[in-house]
Amino acid sequence: SSSSSSPPPSSSPLPASHFIGKKEDIVKSGRVTKLLNGCRDVLVLYHMGKLHAMDMRCYHAGGALENGDIEEFNGRQCIVCPWHKYKITLAEGEGLYQAVDDPTAKPLRTHWHSKGVKQRIHKVTEVNGDVYVTLNDSSEAIESDHYQTERYRTVFLKA
Ligand code: FES
Repeated sequence: SSSSSSPPPSSSPLPASHFIGKKEDIVKSGRVTKLLNGCRDVLVLYHMGKLHAMDMRCYHAGGALENGDIEEFNGRQCIVCPWHKYKITLAEGEGLYQAVDDPTAKPLRTHWHSKGVKQRIHKVTEVNGDVYVTLNDSSEAIESDHYQTERYRTVFLKA
């Protein structure tokens, strides 16, 4: 017979996705971190009815984003890194900053700008109350990749 080729039962209903936890638990705690594939530390957040996933350590210098506050800047929800207060949009991983556009204008006015995508964002899916993350494996380098190495994992290992 050919039944020997049937795949083993999988705990994940989605290809290449990783089980993170029950949605109700993530909603309760607001955020969880998990090492995926043995090589990627990911932060999963629940904020204003939405789930988000991103690299756990800040693209600037590896700050622990799971300890950051979430605030709105220029109409966009951002995590604020607890180390040097960099602002990263939850949805896109863009670094936002304020700058004066016209130094001769009185009074001086600052505007928000984007530095582009700096933090790698991953895909979150919910199936029947279970939350899964699919790693964003785009080959384009993103600055937060720098802190996804054994070296930083060891340095920042939590008790
Ligand atoms: Fe995040 Fe510097 S490490 S702002």
